Amino acid sequence: MKTVVFGTGHVGLVTCVALSIKGHTVVGTDVDAEKIEMIRGGQPWFFEPGLEEALREQLDEGRLTFTVDPRDALGSAQVVFICVGTPPRADGEANLIAVEETARIVARHAAGPITVVEKSTVPAGTAERVKMTLSRERPDLTFEVVSNPEFLREGSGMEDALFPDRILVGAESGRGFQTMRRLYDPWIRDGVRLIETDIVSAELAKHACNAFLALKISYANALARICERAGANVRDVTTVMAADDRIGSAFLNAGIGYGGYCFPKDLVAFEYLANRLGYDFGLLREVGKINDEAVEAVAERVQEALWNLEDKRIALLGLSFKPETDDVRFSPSLALARLLIEKGATVVGYDPSASANARAELPQIEIASDPYEAARGAHCVILGTEWKEFSTLDLSRLRALTAYPVFFDGRNMFDEKQMIRAGFTYVPTGSRPVEPARRGGLNASAHRASA
Ligand code: UGA
Repeated sequence: MKTVVFGTGHVGLVTCVALSIKGHTVVGTDVDAEKIEMIRGGQPWFFEPGLEEALREQLDEGRLTFTVDPRDALGSAQVVFICVGTPPRADGEANLIAVEETARIVARHAAGPITVVEKSTVPAGTAERVKMTLSRERPDLTFEVVSNPEFLREGSGMEDALFPDRILVGAESGRGFQTMRRLYDPWIRDGVRLIETDIVSAELAKHACNAFLALKISYANALARICERAGANVRDVTTVMAADDRIGSAFLNAGIGYGGYCFPKDLVAFEYLANRLGYDFGLLREVGKINDEAVEAVAERVQEALWNLEDKRIALLGLSFKPETDDVRFSPSLALARLLIEKGATVVGYDPSASANARAELPQIEIASDPYEAARGAHCVILGTEWKEFSTLDLSRLRALTAYPVFFDGRNMFDEKQMIRAGFTYVPTGSRPVEPARRGGLNASAHRASA
């Protein structure tokens, strides 16, 4: 089918490539000419595993093109995807100006009949607004608006787009559902589950999923705070929980909390929507508060272990909001860096791919070219993001480079025995610090941190 995709961000660009792989003709468009130029040259403007290779292949196939001017493409398009940004306003409300502007452009240049697919994460009720804009701008246009929320994760975006666990379509007429069944036919034939609902339920389901996943993480992090105080081990506690199929193991890893461009903003947008609808969703506020505390808890433990932070150098491994991405938006690791810098520490960060973005976001952070460089002379090492490459670190070498051998595991990535063998005082999240056989004042104070 002939499709136009508005927005070439983490969702839009992956959607362009996935639709093209499945045989559709795709024109991707964005208001940012620089991004379009890069993408045309086969270079995504952000890092996503497998995306660059797939993009180049599809550009060569000839089914996928990009433009800053979608007018021509809209003239023959059957389906338009809205994948533009919906950033948070100061009060948490989703800013939908780019969605409205897209609807306006579609109305002006589409020949119709056309199906307008809302893929950006938007509050329930947005499709009604899109419909209103389309009919006001072009009373003669035959169109259908459907909701088709995206569930892909950064870092595994291509995999998730090609092999999703579900495809959700919200529509209000048989024609809308039929168009989407045709579009997703290659996936449906592969056995992917298609869930069809009304439009508002589909819009709301996306917020419900993200908020629930965030809630699971915050539950684990609240448990971590209790375990640190009680002398229990949160890893053991969540392992017991995960053995119950009704609970499951996913998103129960305690650490420095969730970040990225989805959970934090979707949570506040969902709460804002609930409020507007007259329901006080206080549970979501609590989820956000526990998430902030997850970062503060590490900063407090570091301060307790190191005493004054003004003359301390801290190595921070991992700066992106999660592994396999260069995205630092709402990164808990950077939030921790900011907090430690505010308290007077010097933070030296290392990240396999997010260093440039981290420096742009937080210019006060020093950037090292590898983990050992970051650890040189450091008074403690903190793991902020669990990149796979950190699992093969030479821990003895790392320890030998530090001024004080204290390791805070903000993602519970390491095994306590490994750390002790390497000579570190190991401070996991959600349990008490563990010291190597040698005793000393520093270790004792690290121990007191969570007592
Ligand atoms: C999330 C959802 O998982 C996707 O389904 C959704 O499509 C996407 O938001 C979106 O709305 O666009 P993403 O933000 O890419 O995807 O990242 P996740 O893998 O969900 O991780 C989010 C954050 O939670 C990360 O900072 C991660 O480190 C943290 N996390 C995850 C934990 O702290 N503990 C866990 O157990 C799991």
